[in-house]
Amino acid sequence: MEFKYQIGTKAFFGEACIGKNKDELRKYGSKAFIVSGKSSAKASGALKDVIEALEESGIEYEVYDKVENNPTLENVKEGGAAAKNFGADMIIGIGGGSPLDAAKAVAVLAVNDIDPVELYKNSFANKPLPILAVPTTAGTGSEVTPYSILTRKDLQTKMSFGNEDTFPKAAFLDARYTESMNYDTTVDTAIDALSHAVEGYLSKRSTPVSDLFAVEAIDLFGQCIKPLQDKEINLEIREKLLYASMLGGMVISHTGTTIVHGMGYSLTYFKDIPHGRANGLLMKEYFNYNYEAAREKIDKVLGLMKVESIERFGEIMNGLLRGNYKFMEEELVQYASLAMKQRSASFNIKTVTEADLLGIMKRSLM
Ligand SMILES: [Fe+2]
Repeated sequence: MEFKYQIGTKAFFGEACIGKNKDELRKYGSKAFIVSGKSSAKASGALKDVIEALEESGIEYEVYDKVENNPTLENVKEGGAAAKNFGADMIIGIGGGSPLDAAKAVAVLAVNDIDPVELYKNSFANKPLPILAVPTTAGTGSEVTPYSILTRKDLQTKMSFGNEDTFPKAAFLDARYTESMNYDTTVDTAIDALSHAVEGYLSKRSTPVSDLFAVEAIDLFGQCIKPLQDKEINLEIREKLLYASMLGGMVISHTGTTIVHGMGYSLTYFKDIPHGRANGLLMKEYFNYNYEAAREKIDKVLGLMKVESIERFGEIMNGLLRGNYKFMEEELVQYASLAMKQRSASFNIKTVTEADLLGIMKRSLM
């Protein structure tokens, strides 16, 4: 047995965790630059709680609420310049995966005079500003990962950067903030959390510790299947989903994701299919593809969710996603080629070829 275990984020979980732990904020300076999208930070009540805590702590702040869905390099460049202009000591990301990931890039760009494409060198002359994260969705896990996934128009895909300095220093997880999500986003993001746990569990990089987190996250998702199907998503279920999402983030902090994410990025880039939904469309065939190589682990995944077969799992995903997506073969050929270029393809438990990826996508999407 040989493994490394480290999580760089101090996580505060529970109702009103920002207000209860506002002393934490002062540790990172006296000027906070808040990074969010247009609506969820406000609608969830998270922005209000953060501002209240900052004001009570005597911390100056500025809000940058221009993060797009699936932020681009141009988008984070603008945010980085604004944070620098403000003289920020810390960056507070509030929102779903997009604002949290953008916050990490902004934290680097605020103190490094580099072109955003150089973020991918993962080595910076100046340490990024401290990052604090407040999720308003339950899926990304970005509040406890070092990863920032940005859209690369030059490469026609999404790609992640991050090093140990881009772990948020602190994360505040209050499930009440996820109540403002609509049903589809709740489902899509929950499936993203599941895919983090599952891909990490079936990664060549999985460790005994990451497996512990993964098993717990998959079990929690399983407990939420029926409430999601019945649209009976109360605060207790939202708390389970948020916890599962955090655990999924802890898994991929160790393992990274693999081919489901690699393939899914094209569905988001070219067809605007939400990230978690894209993963959900591919997961059944991902299990089928890996079954011979990882029979024991896949059986365990199904058992944890109390789902009798991969086929039945596919039916559950179809029912939750209610999507009818049909793609042309030439589109999938392009997506397979792009997915193969993602470094994460090499971490799948079974060695994959481009033809294998095309096969998974054809079986999933045609
Ligand atoms: Fe994801």
